[in-house]
Amino acid sequence: MRTVHSLKELRTILRGYRLQDKTIGLVPTMGNLHEGHISLVRKACEAADVVVTSIFVNPMQFGASEDLDKYPRTLADDQEKLEAAGNTLVFAPSIDEVYPEGLAKQTQVVVPDVSDGHCGGSRPGHFEGVATVVTILFNMVQPDIAVFGEKDFQQLAVIRKLVQDLCIPVEVIGAPTVRDEDGLAKSSRNSYLSEEERHIAPVVYRTLEDTARKLGDGRSDFPALENEAKNALIQAGLRPDYLNIVNSDTLKPATSEDTNLTVLAAAFLGTTRLIDNVTMTRGDLAKRNS
Ligand code: PAF
Repeated sequence: MRTVHSLKELRTILRGYRLQDKTIGLVPTMGNLHEGHISLVRKACEAADVVVTSIFVNPMQFGASEDLDKYPRTLADDQEKLEAAGNTLVFAPSIDEVYPEGLAKQTQVVVPDVSDGHCGGSRPGHFEGVATVVTILFNMVQPDIAVFGEKDFQQLAVIRKLVQDLCIPVEVIGAPTVRDEDGLAKSSRNSYLSEEERHIAPVVYRTLEDTARKLGDGRSDFPALENEAKNALIQAGLRPDYLNIVNSDTLKPATSEDTNLTVLAAAFLGTTRLIDNVTMTRGDLAKRNS
C-alpha cells in the first residue's frame, strides 16, 4: 500500500489504474482510524477495484472553539490498519495542497436546507466546511464510489444532496454505524473520554433505542418524547446539545404521517461532544391510522 501527499502523485497513480479499467473507491477520513472507518474501507473494497482512503484533518469544518488542535494525528498507526484492511492507496495531503490560497480565499460549497438545524445549527459553518472539502476530494480523486458512515447522519444527507445538485458522477454509499459491545458508537472523539465518562457514554445509544421503541409502540407526541429522552441524558450526567425526532428523508421534524423516522442526538459528556442516531420504520402505522 502506498501513501502519497501530493495531488500530482495521486493523479499519476490513479491515471494508471484508470488505463487498466479499474474502478476507484474513496473513503474520506480525518484519520485516527477505528473499526468504524475500517468497515467503510472494507465496504469500499467490495464496491471498487482500487480504494483510496484520504486522511485530512479539515480546518474548514472546525469552529474557532472546537478541537482542531487536539484532534489526534496518527498517520503511522492509520497506515497499518489500512494495509490490513486491503486499502490500496492513502492520500494524506497537507493543508496547502487542499487549500493552496488559504482558507480565506477558498471557494466554498453551501448545501442549503439539509445543512440547517441539528449539527448544522450548533456548529455554524461546519457543513460548509465538510461540503467544500468533500467536493475538493471528489475532484482530486474522481472516484466511482465513495463510502461515508451513517453515524454522521446529517453529513451523509448533505453529501448526497451536493452530489445530486452538482451532478458529481459518484455513487455515495452509506455504511452502518459500528458500535462497541455496550452500544457506544465508534468515534475518534471517544478517546477524549475519561474512564468514568466512557462508562456513562453508552447511555446516548440506549436513550435513542428507548425513544425508537416508544415510537414503535405508536407514540406520536414527539416533543414530549424528545423531552423524556433529553431528561434521561441529563439524569445520566450528559448535557444534550439537541435530540430531535425527524423524518429520515427530509431531516425535518417528524409528523404523525411519517413512517421512516430517525432520532438524532448530540450531547456533551464533560467537554466531549458525542453524536449518534437511530432510524426506525413505523411499519404498521398505516394499519393503526385506518
Ligand atoms: O466524517 C469525517 O470524518 C469528515 O467530516 C470528512 C467526511 C472526512 C470530511 O472532512
